[in-house]
Amino acid sequence: MTCGPCAAAGRCPSSLPVPVQVDPRLFERSRKGEHALLIQPHAGGPPDEGLLEEFADLARSAGATVAAVLTARIDRPNAAMLIGSGKLEEVKAAADATGADLILVNHPLSPGQERNLERALQRRVVDRTGLILDIFAQRAHSHDGKLQVELAQLKHMATRLVRGWTHLERQRGGSIGLRGPGETQLETDRRLLQKRLEQLQRRLEKVEVQRTQMRRARVRSELPRVALVGYTNAGKSTLFNSMTGADAYAADQLFATLDPTVRRIELSGGGVVLADTVGFVRDLPHELVAAFRSTLSEAREADLLLHVVDAADPLRDERIAQVDEVLKDIGAGDLPQVLVFNKIDRLGTDGEAVAPRIDRPAEGRVRVWLSAREGQGLELLRQALAEALELRHVVGEVRLPPQAARLRARLHDLGAVRGEEHDEHGWRIRVDLPLADAQRLFVQAHGEALRPLLPEPDDEDAA
Ligand code: GTP
Repeated sequence: MTCGPCAAAGRCPSSLPVPVQVDPRLFERSRKGEHALLIQPHAGGPPDEGLLEEFADLARSAGATVAAVLTARIDRPNAAMLIGSGKLEEVKAAADATGADLILVNHPLSPGQERNLERALQRRVVDRTGLILDIFAQRAHSHDGKLQVELAQLKHMATRLVRGWTHLERQRGGSIGLRGPGETQLETDRRLLQKRLEQLQRRLEKVEVQRTQMRRARVRSELPRVALVGYTNAGKSTLFNSMTGADAYAADQLFATLDPTVRRIELSGGGVVLADTVGFVRDLPHELVAAFRSTLSEAREADLLLHVVDAADPLRDERIAQVDEVLKDIGAGDLPQVLVFNKIDRLGTDGEAVAPRIDRPAEGRVRVWLSAREGQGLELLRQALAEALELRHVVGEVRLPPQAARLRARLHDLGAVRGEEHDEHGWRIRVDLPLADAQRLFVQAHGEALRPLLPEPDDEDAA
């Protein structure tokens, strides 16, 4: 028997038996085009346009059309429904007038508030966390990405199951907030839910162990690690693809990437490992940060972060600050960063193109201006990366005994040989190669001959 997500993906890499029957409709995907009415609560002052725009983007990313937007000033949150009775009437009238069949609230709602609102409005109500979870459910590609999403959805749902869903006549089929596990709520009792949670947890732990092992293998290869981070839709996957020639998923929707993709790239000073990561968003709900621990750890464990920014976004400075905030939350706040101002092709005014360039301010982060989609400025980014990582070449002469023919062949393969002489003791070779390559060959078989080229190990390494 295979588990639901794997059956849907046509594979089941886990060898665990699956004791819990899962309704296959659980993984039906969306009916697009739900009409959503958006509520943007705000306290005092005017509502924040940036927040509203981002929330509308999130709604569209989930496949909804935005039927109407209402702001709601909330000085003292109503315990029963968050909004007061006057605003409730206004919401109902606007939903009726626009034919909205879904209400999205840009604020966390308690299970009770969500239920009361649904009862009063006779429509489904989804809060910010539910909406983001829904997008995650649609976007997760890999096995563990799917497991992480399902686990987070079930946890979010568990608190809402207590009194069932009888207050709302629910439509079947995938709808925002009901995708994924939501559809089995009626037929799944809490015991079953608990079992599924435990099962997912076990599988994720297994996947986590595998990931850690893979990561360790990479660390052993001694290549510096660079992680792409940035606000969702900034162009990370596009940049990843143009830097690596890979075809990671890139779409003009928020959160197109939910799994890190890792590739090796070559810079003039040697190889580095580049990882694409999940897109960040302001106020990423805490339970999601926890759920995406392994995805985000690619960022935490990097030697350098490439912080990708949509240079054409009018809110770009805020986005940078919000990403820095999330990085701080996940313990990656102190890592060195290169800022990548992407999408310069959208920047020029009066038809004047903005050229790729590197800014190296006396203080603060190096900035590289480029266009990942048009392939402009990628060389500059490679240069900035090599500088930031202080990738070094080692140059010198090594003596190889006759039995080290394989190492000699590797040096030739790497284009590191500048000249060689042969005598009865073997070869005398002049080499010029990236330090990282020299270190890698050294730890592999027969590398001892390279020792004179390598820097002295520091105390910690020696121990
Ligand atoms: P998430 O997965 O949501 O975090 O997104 P991402 O940061 O990986 O962004 P992605 O690479 O998916 O790109 C988002 C959109 O921006 C896509 O439509 C890309 O085609 C577009 N895009 C990326 N780079 C450029 C660029 O240099 N210029 C322009 N004009 N568009 C770009």
